[in-house]
Amino acid sequence: MSSFSFDGQPVPLQPGDTILQAAQRAGHEVPHLCWHPEVSASASCRVCTVRVDGRPAAACTTAAAAGQRVECHTADLRAQRLHLLQMLFVEGNHFCPGCEKSGHCLLQHQAERAGMTDLHYETLNPERPVDASHPDVLFEPNRCILCQLCVRASDELDGKQVFAIGGHGIATHLLINSASGRLGDSALAVTDRAAHICPVGALLPKRVGFAVPIGQRTFDDAETRG
Ligand code: SF4
Ligand code: FES
Repeated sequence: MSSFSFDGQPVPLQPGDTILQAAQRAGHEVPHLCWHPEVSASASCRVCTVRVDGRPAAACTTAAAAGQRVECHTADLRAQRLHLLQMLFVEGNHFCPGCEKSGHCLLQHQAERAGMTDLHYETLNPERPVDASHPDVLFEPNRCILCQLCVRASDELDGKQVFAIGGHGIATHLLINSASGRLGDSALAVTDRAAHICPVGALLPKRVGFAVPIGQRTFDDAETRG
């Protein structure tokens, strides 16, 4: 079977594999935020950036090929990833201790893995009104990292196109497809995949907060588990 090298380890590949898919199947964790196995890849967050034969590339969209030399967990790539995550944190309001998604949040998990201990950059402290208009789903835009997972899930899995990304630069934001622009007037149902795919605490089903207690959550470490 053909293979490529991932941080010096041989990784077997199958036809159609991306670097991220093949590496994860072989047991390597490739840091990522905007990638999810159920929807198409968008390569928008760049947290999965690796170096392929010396050149930077997004592991989630770059095809794996026999003989490639892929570097992922090098000191310089780790440093770049850390800065990228620090920038994501200061662009929104990510107060982890007060968030229902704490312990289940992919942004929090990647930051911990990257060794993030402070914000580093000056916070922008945006003020974005919470949208609680939907009976079953809350939208907290201060936590949105614009990963587009809900956009793709609504389009590709639910066939609804409830979400889109609009605006420019720092004003880029998640748009909701309804006359009022509010979630409660959209076609979103709590049973939609889009209502559950958010990697952070921006889109949250209501009335299930803390159903899984702290200490038993996906990314809780040994210390938190007690
Ligand atoms: S609401 Fe969640 S899933 Fe949708 S773009 Fe924002 S962070 Fe991504
Ligand atoms: S996971 Fe690859 S760019 Fe976001």
